[in-house]
Amino acid sequence: MLAPVRTQTPLADLEREITAPGDGLDRLRLVDAPFVPEVRLHLAEDAILWWARMEAAAGRSLPPPYWASVWAGGQALARHLLDHPELAAGRRVLDLAAGSGLVAIAAALAGADRVVANDVDPWAVAAVTVNARANRVTVAATGDDLLDSTASADLVLAGDVLYDAGLAARVLPYLQRAADRGAQVLVGDPDRGHLPPDRLELVAAYPVPVTEPSVDSPVRRVQVLRPR
Ligand SMILES: C[S@@+](CC[C@H](N)C(=O)[O-])C[C@H]1O[C@@H](n2cnc3c(N)ncnc32)[C@H](O)[C@@H]1O
Repeated sequence: MLAPVRTQTPLADLEREITAPGDGLDRLRLVDAPFVPEVRLHLAEDAILWWARMEAAAGRSLPPPYWASVWAGGQALARHLLDHPELAAGRRVLDLAAGSGLVAIAAALAGADRVVANDVDPWAVAAVTVNARANRVTVAATGDDLLDSTASADLVLAGDVLYDAGLAARVLPYLQRAADRGAQVLVGDPDRGHLPPDRLELVAAYPVPVTEPSVDSPVRRVQVLRPR
C-alpha cells in the first residue's frame, strides 16, 4: 500500500495518482470499460481500498468514489449511444450524475457538438476531466446541483442515477421537465428498485457484465428508457 500523502485539489490528487499509481489494490488503473471497450477509464482496482487510503490521507471522510467504478446503467447507455451515434451527433448533450464520465465520453465519441458532464462530487468532476483527456475528447465537467433547474441541452442522459429513493424523487421530475421542453432524454437503469412503473418506456435492453461492488451475478439486463 502507498504511504499516506497530503491531499490537494481532487484534480491534482487524481493526476498524481495516475502518474504514480503504485502496485497495490488501492490504485487507479486505465482500463477499457468492459461493455464499452471504445472508452478507457481511470478506475480503482478496488474502490473501497482506494477510498480508505484517500480518506486516511485527507484526515476526513470523502464521498463514496462512485466515479472509480463502472456502473451497469452507464455502460448500457454508453453502448446505446455508440451503437446509435445519430442520437448524439451534432447535439448539445448533458450527462447528469456523470460519475467517471463514461456516458459523456461516449456522447463525445458519437459526435456530439458540446458535452457537459455534471456531478455533485468534486472527485467525479476531476475524474471526468482526466477520463476525457485519456479518450482525447472534450467534455466540460461541472459540479453544481442542477436538479432544481431545467436542462437546456438537446439530449439529457442519466446512467444509473435511480439508485436511491431521495435522489430518484428529484431526478425524475428534472428529466420530465427536460422532456417537456423538447429535449430527448435517455435513462440507463438496471432496476435498483426506484424505476417508476408508468413514467418511462423501454427503448432497448442490454446484457451488461456486472463489475460493481456487492453484486454477484455475472450479467445483468439493463434497460435504456425514455419518458413516455
Ligand atoms: C451510481 S453513480 C453513476 C455514475 C455514471 N452515471 C455511470 O453510470 O457510470 C451515481 C452518481 O450520481 C452522482 N450524484 C448524486 N447526486 C447527484 C446530484 N444531485 N446531481 C448530480 N450528480 C449526483 C454521484 O456523485 C455519483 O457519481
